Amino acid sequence: MHAVAIVAAAGSGSRLGAGLPKALVPLAGRPLVAWSVEALRAGGVAEIVVAVPAAQREAFAVALPGVRLVDGGASRTGSVRACLDAATAQADVVLVHDAARPLTPPELVRRVLSALGDGHPAVVPVLPVVDTTVTVDDAGVITDAPPRAALRRVQTPQGFARAVLSAAYADLPPDADLTDDATVVRAAGVPVLTVPGDERAAKVTVPHDLVLAEATVRTTGERASQGAPATEERNEPGVEPMSQVAR
Ligand code: CTP
Ligand code: MG
Repeated sequence: MHAVAIVAAAGSGSRLGAGLPKALVPLAGRPLVAWSVEALRAGGVAEIVVAVPAAQREAFAVALPGVRLVDGGASRTGSVRACLDAATAQADVVLVHDAARPLTPPELVRRVLSALGDGHPAVVPVLPVVDTTVTVDDAGVITDAPPRAALRRVQTPQGFARAVLSAAYADLPPDADLTDDATVVRAAGVPVLTVPGDERAAKVTVPHDLVLAEATVRTTGERASQGAPATEERNEPGVEPMSQVAR
């Protein structure tokens, strides 16, 4: 199985507000995107294509020596599309990953690859929802509280049979802007399997997330995944054993 990983790193990071593209923001002295690329490599992916902001290509080339870079799009969907077009034809499976998930454990990458190897066309890591989650109307009044037991938080890397992802993207309108690739293939009628995600694969979105990531690196060592047991084995409060996560 030849896997190619696409890393979406072309965002500006407006909610983090660091004054530079989020993927270049340092975590323990290394850019977030370097951590994310290393996680994919450690998880067994040999070919990696990274979507970067066109104006910052030089800085990304310094951060990622020897890694293939392509100019990203105006939306995450556009950036993934650009990488998909640039990936070599030999790849039969594609992982799509956010640069903003620096501490993704390599075993999570392997879990997704393994399910693809079993023949599933689309595979997404998920975690249980620990807070009651509600919908609201325009006035901020609660309209519904969907049963929490059936809800999941979706992470990356998400894995796809290459032909399936390419076909789904080909069917999207040119200006489509989706935060998640599983939504794209599900809209095309493809069943999407979930596998256990990992709290350490959390996305850095707001400044507090970076504080947490720094603390994680400080307390668990160079890469959180090395030496630390996987989340589902740690039996953390609020994290259900993965056997209880819907598949
Ligand atoms: N991304 C991308 N191309 C874009 C927008 C986002 O490749 N045009 C990437 C980001 O670099 C990030 C991932 O998609 O790794 C997830 O998006 P998000 O967390 O929203 O990052 P940003 O869009 O950079 O942040 P913000 O929305 O706060 O500006
Ligand atoms: Mg964004």
